[in-house]
Amino acid sequence: MDWLPTWTMLKSCAELQLHAAAKHHGPALIIYAELSKRFPDRAEPFLGQARIYEYLAEKHNKLQFMQKSVEAYKRYLAFNELLQNDKEYRKSAESCIQHMRTLGYFNPALNVHQMLVNRFPHDPDQRNQLVLTLLMIERYSDAKIWLKVSLQQWPHNGLTLTLFGYVLKMYDSDYAQAADYLQRGIDSRAEGTQEARFFLALGESYERLELAENASIVYKRGAQLKLYPSQHQRSVYNQPNLRARPIWSLPETTYAHHLRMISAHWRIIRDESLGMLIDANAVAWSGGSSDDDDHGGGHEGYFRNENENLLATGNWKELLLFSRGERHAKNCQRAPTTCWLIEQFKAAARCRRGQVKFSVMQPGTHVWSHCGPTNSRLRAHLGLIVPQKARMRVVNETLTWTEGEFIVFDDSFEHEVWHEGEKVRLILIVDFWHPDLTEQQISSITKI
Ligand code: LMR
Ligand code: MN
Repeated sequence: MDWLPTWTMLKSCAELQLHAAAKHHGPALIIYAELSKRFPDRAEPFLGQARIYEYLAEKHNKLQFMQKSVEAYKRYLAFNELLQNDKEYRKSAESCIQHMRTLGYFNPALNVHQMLVNRFPHDPDQRNQLVLTLLMIERYSDAKIWLKVSLQQWPHNGLTLTLFGYVLKMYDSDYAQAADYLQRGIDSRAEGTQEARFFLALGESYERLELAENASIVYKRGAQLKLYPSQHQRSVYNQPNLRARPIWSLPETTYAHHLRMISAHWRIIRDESLGMLIDANAVAWSGGSSDDDDHGGGHEGYFRNENENLLATGNWKELLLFSRGERHAKNCQRAPTTCWLIEQFKAAARCRRGQVKFSVMQPGTHVWSHCGPTNSRLRAHLGLIVPQKARMRVVNETLTWTEGEFIVFDDSFEHEVWHEGEKVRLILIVDFWHPDLTEQQISSITKI
């Protein structure tokens, strides 16, 4: 450029930035880029760029713009002490963090949180927000350290109490302490505390303490607040207007034909899973992975422990064939007929909110009462090896399995499993899209 922008121009640009973004973002971006080159010791051009990209990201729903906005915000925020306006600094840093969370940049976001905590040491919410980011990447023990320090300074902060209780439940399985903190936190009704996951953590803590009456009060309250569909159906990823009932007959699912085609081959399916189980016993029965990424290649080839902290007692393992609509090639190599049969059933093989897996449970197992995460799927169980005294409660009804037969239930309703028999119980679990979903709904539903 052959013109020289002056500082006055720069300032007026900064004032006009949002207006410019709305109407003339292209030229405005060029000006900001030029200004940031000529005045590298000024923060404003970076802020201008950040806001324009933010505007563009929103308008065009493009992550690329969001990334650029984050880059520019970071450059701006790095001026730190030179920036006098606290309000503007906080607003920018908070926007930056929000975008970073959306983009999955959790560790870099922690640096921005740290800057905010340093700058606003008397604001407990900055620390709570940092903890929320830590929880997004399941860094529970770090979260706990932060929360302990916060609680010394702010022993009555509602969100801090809630978060601490949540960590005690999820990380320490200390249900008594967890219930105490979560109850006080939720009762404060402080911003951020009226969330499904906190209500679920509190209700589950009470259940595990055998305080069913307390749990039921919490679940009812959460349903009144519409945090989940109902007291007994406590899923958090929900689509509207789906028939909601705990137990389904095969014809009601509209997929009886597919399910019967699978169950007709149950002996082959059983033998394929047994083959893998025997190998697994030899090499990795006790070495199941405990990390919780269920879609990577790392778990292939063996059964792994259930990893959502649902096991009260005993031993319960799974082996994934499909998850989130994707086939696990290595496992399927060893269960080819099973996977071929599932492939014919697209609503299961392509179910981005479900899994197809073998589930093996040893005698002496109790699985805590729990709800699946979404109402958008139904769950079918095919009995492969079914000893006596294995049963599942779904809300008020008790189901048992039969070798070679499917049962279907909606796992967003609370269910609980006991195996008090003598030998292992083996089933094939097949999730499939809820039959009331339209094609259009299915194509817009995100993976979980
Ligand atoms: C569940 O879906 O939680 C259980 O029913 C699975 C199982 O293996 O019984
Ligand atoms: Mn379950």
